[in-house]
Amino acid sequence: MGRVNGGGGKTTTEGALFVAPRRPLVLEELALEPPAANEVSVRMVASGVCHSDLHVVDGDWERPTSVVLGHEGAAVVEALGEGVEERFPELRRGSLVVLAWTAPCGRCPPCLRGEGWLCIQPAGSNHRLAPEQVRLRRLDGSPIGVYSGIGTFGTRQVVAAEAAVPVDPRTPPAVAALIGCAVTTGVGAALNTARLRAGQSVAIIGLGGVGLSALLAAVLVGAHPIVVLDTRPAKLELATSLGATHAVLVDPLDVERTLAEARRETAMAGFDHALECIGLAATCELAVDLVRPGGTATLVGMTPQGVRAQVDVYRFVEEGKQLLGSNYGSSVPALMFPKIASLHLAGRLPLERLVTETLPLEDVNEALDALRRGDGARRVVVF
Ligand SMILES: NC(=O)c1ccc[n+]([C@@H]2O[C@H](COP(=O)([O-])OP(=O)(O)OC[C@H]3O[C@@H](n4cnc5c(N)ncnc54)[C@H](O)[C@@H]3O)[C@@H](O)[C@H]2O)c1
Ligand SMILES: [Zn+2]
Ligand SMILES: [Zn+2]
Repeated sequence: MGRVNGGGGKTTTEGALFVAPRRPLVLEELALEPPAANEVSVRMVASGVCHSDLHVVDGDWERPTSVVLGHEGAAVVEALGEGVEERFPELRRGSLVVLAWTAPCGRCPPCLRGEGWLCIQPAGSNHRLAPEQVRLRRLDGSPIGVYSGIGTFGTRQVVAAEAAVPVDPRTPPAVAALIGCAVTTGVGAALNTARLRAGQSVAIIGLGGVGLSALLAAVLVGAHPIVVLDTRPAKLELATSLGATHAVLVDPLDVERTLAEARRETAMAGFDHALECIGLAATCELAVDLVRPGGTATLVGMTPQGVRAQVDVYRFVEEGKQLLGSNYGSSVPALMFPKIASLHLAGRLPLERLVTETLPLEDVNEALDALRRGDGARRVVVF
């Protein structure tokens, strides 16, 4: 466990390291330097275990090794680097913050267009930092990377001040952690990317942390009907208890039957919206097939790198469909995180229902195994 030496000096921290694809994460004691200018040091309070972490562990995505993994976390600010107080007056010692895996720089063309989620130079985007930016080291002094600049599978981290977004301190830690990825991704995909509105029909494919968050947003805005699709009956039961109006058990080997069943449930020729929240070519294609002429399919799930999906171009064009990609729920974290936390505290987004289990950092590999099996909604490491 982390230990702070007097006077804001070096600290030790424990981190779960990605050492090689298809190998368990390795827990290691590490040395953490104090924050430099425009950085803050934080003590992690909770971290969700997201399928994007699993994509890294399973070797679906090429990523550097010797990196503290984890990108869905909440933390408490321990110390402010130079200049933070002036530039971010709302960030104080003791603030509860949700960490952003894309911390928009505010200056590049996408940021200037108001599309911070597409920022070209977000803080820590390379997972491995330039030598002058390294704050985390092995006890022998060799540098350690920090996944997406936040490495939430670590008891303490130094992060860019932009990546630490204060939220209402009453937000429960596990809920705050999930806001850092799954919730903002799913809620934002429905509200910001797809612009789902009251009375519109929606099909949500895949009911992990991301898909269930999209479902809660669909319920929040009054979409109807809300049809959920998954291969696991337990996911369908949970989704129904959260407000889905129809549930379809997907047979991956029989897409035609799945399509027919989803449509029959609603007596419609197709949905206004479909959201793919898994990351499989077959279900991306299913999303396009599920929408009505003029409807919108939004892809949220991420495949292994290089996977392509097929579109029947003739029909797609003739039927005037739309296909969108949604990165981080098309959200600016500094706006979206506090908004979601306040919706939760107002009782409008029951995000605590996404937490299947909380566990210590030592058990993070078991949580990844459970995710691989599709068992449960979200597991959250609490520190
Ligand atoms: N776009 C973004 O910004 C962004 C952000 C976070 C995560 N993601 C991606 O979103 C995806 C979902 O993440 P998650 O953490 O919710 O994953 P998860 O593993 O918790 O959930 C996936 C769900 O899909 C279901 N499923 C699997 N195969 C299926 C099939 N053939 N048909 C129907 N259902 C099926 C599983 O039972 C599970 O409920 C991942 O690919 C992740 O990398 C994208
Ligand atoms: Zn994630
Ligand atoms: Zn930018």
